[in-house]
Amino acid sequence: QSVLRFLASLPKAELHLHIEGTLEPELMFELAQRNHALDSLPCKTLQEMKAAYNFQDLQSFLNLYYAGCAVLRTDQDFYDLTMAYLRRAKADNVVHTEIFFDPQTHTQRGVPLKCVIEGIHRAQEEGQRTLGITSCLILSFLRDLGPEAAMQTLNEAEPFLGHITGVGLDSCELGFPPGVFQEVFQKAKTLGLKRVAHAGEEGPAQYIWEALQKLDVQRIDHGVKCLEDRKLIESLEASEMPLTVCPLSNLELKVYSGELEKRMSELLSTDLCITINSDDPAYFGGYLNQNYLWLIQNLGLDSQRVVDLHANSFRASFLSQDAKTQHC
Ligand code: ADE
Ligand code: ZN
Repeated sequence: QSVLRFLASLPKAELHLHIEGTLEPELMFELAQRNHALDSLPCKTLQEMKAAYNFQDLQSFLNLYYAGCAVLRTDQDFYDLTMAYLRRAKADNVVHTEIFFDPQTHTQRGVPLKCVIEGIHRAQEEGQRTLGITSCLILSFLRDLGPEAAMQTLNEAEPFLGHITGVGLDSCELGFPPGVFQEVFQKAKTLGLKRVAHAGEEGPAQYIWEALQKLDVQRIDHGVKCLEDRKLIESLEASEMPLTVCPLSNLELKVYSGELEKRMSELLSTDLCITINSDDPAYFGGYLNQNYLWLIQNLGLDSQRVVDLHANSFRASFLSQDAKTQHC
């Protein structure tokens, strides 16, 4: 109880959060009804849906996550989704959040990119005004759709770059190394966008090297597999490259089955810039504070370490230097 009070008392930043992964089953069914889209869901009832949240690996989760997205159709849906997340984040005392969205998941279904971006953006403004939460938006390419589709998506997004801070790379990792996205990331850089990439979640340490060397990223999302390469750890430490680690996600996707505590302890015993995040909290059973709580309860993190980790999140954020200093 006192741990929860301590976590609640810390104003926090979140750097690895997929907005589609905050779609709670209740809202999913509400939107399905509103859009007459119940048939598009893989489960007919809320209970069935919740029972299906039992994953074997990343792909089994992604299948359900993409299926759930089918109910998101209008800019009001994206607004409602984002507001619901921001209200939930407020309850965890999140004061700054950097939100991923997967445009291709929606444009592929015929939802205009403009609806997606403007719906989310309207909620971000409302969140800042009424909840005091600052946020930015990161456009994430689906790596399994390949580099040409990513380039096309970036080109389509050009009219909305005022609402976008950076690009990311997510979805199924194994078999889709970061290097093939070099050109689109280079273009994003010329457009003044920040760059991050999921690497070393299920994929090997080599994918992390590639993200660093070919995509010129400012953060690695997950990155837990760096533990398999001593030289890589040293390089990440020396460059103070942040890793956005998501404990409950790793737990629920069983990526390091049986070894999660060991891996997290190893990570936290290095000099790496580790940040704690919730990834897809509606699917993994916990928002940001629950991720910290898992580390406290399972690794025995003390409060000073928690304070250090939360400071890392602000340091690794895309906030201005002034804003960072205010928060740390
Ligand atoms: N999309 C949403 N969550 C993801 C994750 N943990 N890894 C890869 N792609 C994702
Ligand atoms: Zn993720």
